[in-house]
Amino acid sequence: MRKIIIAGNWKMYKTIKEAIELSNALKREFFKLDTQAIDIVLCPPFTALSEVAEAVNETGIKLGGQDLYWAGEGAFTGEVSGRMLRDAGCEFVIIGHSERRQFFSETNESVNKKTKAALECGLTPIVCVGERLDEREAGKTFDVLRSHIEGALTGLSAEDVLRIIIAYEPVWAIGTGKTATPEQAQEAHKYIRDLLHKLYNQEVAQEVRIQYGGSVKPENTAELMNQPDVDGALVGGASLKAESFSEIIKKASEVLK
Ligand code: PGA
Repeated sequence: MRKIIIAGNWKMYKTIKEAIELSNALKREFFKLDTQAIDIVLCPPFTALSEVAEAVNETGIKLGGQDLYWAGEGAFTGEVSGRMLRDAGCEFVIIGHSERRQFFSETNESVNKKTKAALECGLTPIVCVGERLDEREAGKTFDVLRSHIEGALTGLSAEDVLRIIIAYEPVWAIGTGKTATPEQAQEAHKYIRDLLHKLYNQEVAQEVRIQYGGSVKPENTAELMNQPDVDGALVGGASLKAESFSEIIKKASEVLK
C-alpha cells in the first residue's frame, strides 16, 4: 500500500504575510476533509518556511523546501543547507525540478549530490524527472527518464531509495495548462517503477511513491490518481489558492488505493 502524497510547490510566490494567509485558509478547508489517508506537504519559498511551519503546527500538514545545497555549511553565498531546512521545520525537499534544470544549471550530478545530502540530514527528497516536448516528440521519453533516474540515484542503496519520492513531471505540462493524459502518466510511472525493479529490487519498485506533476487541477486529479502507478501529485499553480488545492486534496482522498 502506497499512501497518496500531495505536495504544493509554491515556487517564487507568496510573501510571508500571503503565505500565512494561505496556510490559515488551507487549515480551515482541510479541517472539513478526511485527510488522514493522504500526506499533504506545503513547499513555500525559503523566507516563509518558519512562519508556515508555525501556522500548520499540529495539523498533520508537512513542510518541504524547494531546493537545498549539498554542503552542510560554508562559504556558499545564497545557498541553504538541509540542516537549515530541518531547522525551519521541513521534512521534505524538492530536488531537480525542471525549472532548476532549465534556469539554474541543475544537472544529474548536482541532483545526485543534493539527494544524498537530503537523505543524510533526514529529509525526504522529492526527486523530479521528466522529458521536454522535443524529447517526447523525438521518442526519447524513456531514455530521458532513465538518465534522470540513474543519475539521481547513483551510489544509493535500496534502503536509501526506499526513503525517496519520485515526481514525474513532463516539462511540456508544467504551467502550460496541458496535462499528460492519465494513460501517458501511467505509462511513464510504470516505466519508472520497472526501472526501479531492474536497478534495485521488487520491494523498492513496490514501495517507492511516484507523484505526477504538470497542470494538476481539481478536474483532472481523480483520473490521474486512479492510475495504478500514480501515488500523488506535485502541484504548482493550483496550490497557490486554498480552494483549488483543497479541492485537489479532497478528490485525491476519495481515491481508494
Ligand atoms: P504546475 O506546476 O502545476 O503549475 O504545472 C507543477 C510543478 O512545477 O511542480
